[in-house]
Amino acid sequence: MQNKLINLVVKSANQSKKQILSAVQPSRYLQDLNKKQAGQNKTVLITGASSGLGEGMARLFAKLGYNLAICARRVDRLECLQSELTAAYPNIRVEYQTLDVSDYDAIFDVFNAFAEKFGSIDRVVVNAGIGDSRRIGKGRFDTNRRTVEINFISALAQCEAAMSIFRAQNSGHLVVISSMSAMRGMPKHLTAYGASKAGLAHLAEGIRSDMLLTKLPIKVSTIYPGYIRTEINENAKPLPFEVDADTGTKAIVAAIEAGVEEACVPSLPWSFVGQALKHLPLKVVSTVS
Ligand SMILES: NC(=O)c1ccc[n+]([C@@H]2O[C@H](COP(=O)([O-])OP(=O)(O)OC[C@H]3O[C@@H](n4cnc5c(N)ncnc54)[C@H](OP(=O)(O)O)[C@@H]3O)[C@@H](O)[C@H]2O)c1
Repeated sequence: MQNKLINLVVKSANQSKKQILSAVQPSRYLQDLNKKQAGQNKTVLITGASSGLGEGMARLFAKLGYNLAICARRVDRLECLQSELTAAYPNIRVEYQTLDVSDYDAIFDVFNAFAEKFGSIDRVVVNAGIGDSRRIGKGRFDTNRRTVEINFISALAQCEAAMSIFRAQNSGHLVVISSMSAMRGMPKHLTAYGASKAGLAHLAEGIRSDMLLTKLPIKVSTIYPGYIRTEINENAKPLPFEVDADTGTKAIVAAIEAGVEEACVPSLPWSFVGQALKHLPLKVVSTVS
């Protein structure tokens, strides 16, 4: 009993050390994992891998030695990424499939086809998303509905498909890409987008809670990125604390590799901003979005 307790304390101390290093020095943390080839013989499935964060994550996971199952609608881009990554890392396997996540049945078909091809899937990153919501009550229900459908309902279908594979394997790591805008109700064009990402974060927490209850060895991580310059915001004016895609994806992959339950990325300043957003009066929050 005493030994079990000591092991538990040592394990959680090592875990927090890992998580602190990954948050404070993501590049250094990833360099260590690169040396160890932490992803060898493991497979990561990423949706929305044709650009931005998904494409960046694919590159970093490939460097760590992971096999990749990548999907999106722009299949020409996936094909280029496959050629680039298999040339750079001949020991990994990269498979791609075209997938429109608004076709819910296709999500199950594509995920299951990948699981069959690779034999197992170690991690699924629910990343595909869109960001073009509009102010509520301004006649753009079509755009807001699509945003919520892609970012929440399609993400639910991806979580369902991933969890059914993980349950059958009795192992796996589900990662969802939420957003800092999920922290509170957001004004202007961010209202529906933020609500979709808050729904996704809540969904992931519910799945994590269920894994705790049922003691299944399946990890669930929720990532809350701050502003990272990608196609989703390419026409936006300079954004608060924005970073480039390389910096952003390094912070995301480091947090995922550290096995965090939840992380605001990049950690500085977004973990502090996140805490502030949660506790500040709405009047203040509404002015900082
Ligand atoms: N960049 C940021 O500042 C930021 C901040 C917080 C959260 N996020 C989240 O991060 C995720 C990735 O965004 P990003 O910044 O990398 O933007 P991005 O460059 O626009 O990438 C979005 C990805 O989602 C895919 N996608 C969109 N609609 C799809 C559909 N119907 N079916 C399948 N795939 C679809 C796109 O692929 P195809 O068009 O080829 O299908 C693309 O690969 C999103 O969920 C976004 O909400 C981003």
